[in-house]
Amino acid sequence: MTVNTGATIDIAELFETHESERFNLHSRSLNEQMVRVLRTIGYDVGFCKGSGQYLYDRKGDRYLDMLSGFGVFALGRNHPAIRDALKSVLDADLPNLVQMDVSTLAGVLAQRLLALVPHLDKVFFANSGAESVEAAMKFARAATGRSGIAYCSHAFHGLTYGALSLNGDEVFRRGFEPLIPDCVCVPFNDLTALDKVLSTRRIAAFVVEPIQGKGVILPDEDYLRGVQDLCRRYETLFIADEIQTGIGRTGKFLAGEHWDIEPDMVLLAKALSGGHVPVGAVMMRKWIFDKVFNRMDRAVVHGSTFSKNDLAMAAGIATLEVLKAERVTENAARTGDRLVRELSAMQERYELLKNVRGKGLMIGVEFGAPSSLKLRASWSMIEAASKGLFCQLITIPLFKEHKILTQVAGHGSHTIKLIPSLTINDADCDWIVRAFDEVIADSHKAGAVWSLGKTLAQHAMKARA
Ligand SMILES: Cc1ncc(COP(=O)(O)O)c(C=O)c1O
Repeated sequence: MTVNTGATIDIAELFETHESERFNLHSRSLNEQMVRVLRTIGYDVGFCKGSGQYLYDRKGDRYLDMLSGFGVFALGRNHPAIRDALKSVLDADLPNLVQMDVSTLAGVLAQRLLALVPHLDKVFFANSGAESVEAAMKFARAATGRSGIAYCSHAFHGLTYGALSLNGDEVFRRGFEPLIPDCVCVPFNDLTALDKVLSTRRIAAFVVEPIQGKGVILPDEDYLRGVQDLCRRYETLFIADEIQTGIGRTGKFLAGEHWDIEPDMVLLAKALSGGHVPVGAVMMRKWIFDKVFNRMDRAVVHGSTFSKNDLAMAAGIATLEVLKAERVTENAARTGDRLVRELSAMQERYELLKNVRGKGLMIGVEFGAPSSLKLRASWSMIEAASKGLFCQLITIPLFKEHKILTQVAGHGSHTIKLIPSLTINDADCDWIVRAFDEVIADSHKAGAVWSLGKTLAQHAMKARA
């Protein structure tokens, strides 16, 4: 019997009492710079509720979230099936994290994941994307006896030391060196460069995102198959980081299925638990797993206290159920195709819009220098203040005037990334297309958008001073 000691906390009430102080709390005790950023760009609306693909601010206004918590809420926020699964774990008094036992729910989730990726045999669970990358790097070194890890320019695999050592963007690395040794950068989409690096036979693994998240960069049609062939030729492990692209995001369970590849390891995280509980998974071939866990005295040679916890595992099982029952992946393919088609069609009307690309609901909308004299001076002024700043002239009006939350696809990028919940519907697509059309049209006129640009450019200059 559980005795209620009177210490029950009403979290909803706690949230309501403190929500208006959130920026002060963060300025004082957490990341003050983040608060400054949000206030500068006018994103301090105070979100109070999340439901499906929508967020609601303190006035009750509804926003379409095209960011989905960096891709974790593939099923939308607070999906009833995920919520019920989490509640039922707590109500069942399960023997969570016994440690000197093995987890039943982890066994079930591993089996169901492997059924979806039948060329792989084993799963190692972790607590985040970066932790999955760290594990993959350790497994690769132990399995091959080689120290090198190859990764791509513009790659993003997380921000812990191992993952950061595979980061293709100087901005993230600067100030944190030295990183781990023997990590080699090769250009994405360049098989000749990869051949040269792998032919040294010092590379344990090549880690690559099938579609690069920073910039939404798609592989050339024959790239990933070529990667697989080279990895096999030089006995390098082929590791697909599907942390962002996996679990239906691109219109297939794994993005690699678009190109018919069978990597030696596949990394998942983000949407695997429906977004509600941190989780990560490294799926791999048996022989790799067995090189690490090869004797009884090495049964705990790699692991993490919270991995395989019941809440994450139950949420993962429920996520796979919802994905199938609600045909979520198919919806991502259909709505994604529609968005790419309709946004691309705007290119002929707008000289600043250069390219729309993507697979399923991982879409990049790229802008670039105008050809007309009329716009060139404004573009140059903004870009001189901070490369990539132009995109804020699209994302800020999308947010303020059209209540759509988007992000720029990386430092200095001219691409806006759309990674909404995979449950968006046709009315949401109408909302997105209409909003982009209006905002891009405004950016082609002298007026409010460019005066916002001037203000942002001044802020950017001040921040650098
Ligand atoms: C492709 C990829 N790998 C790894 C990570 C790191 O995941 P986490 O933030 O859970 O550590 C991310 C996060 O954005 C990612 O997009």
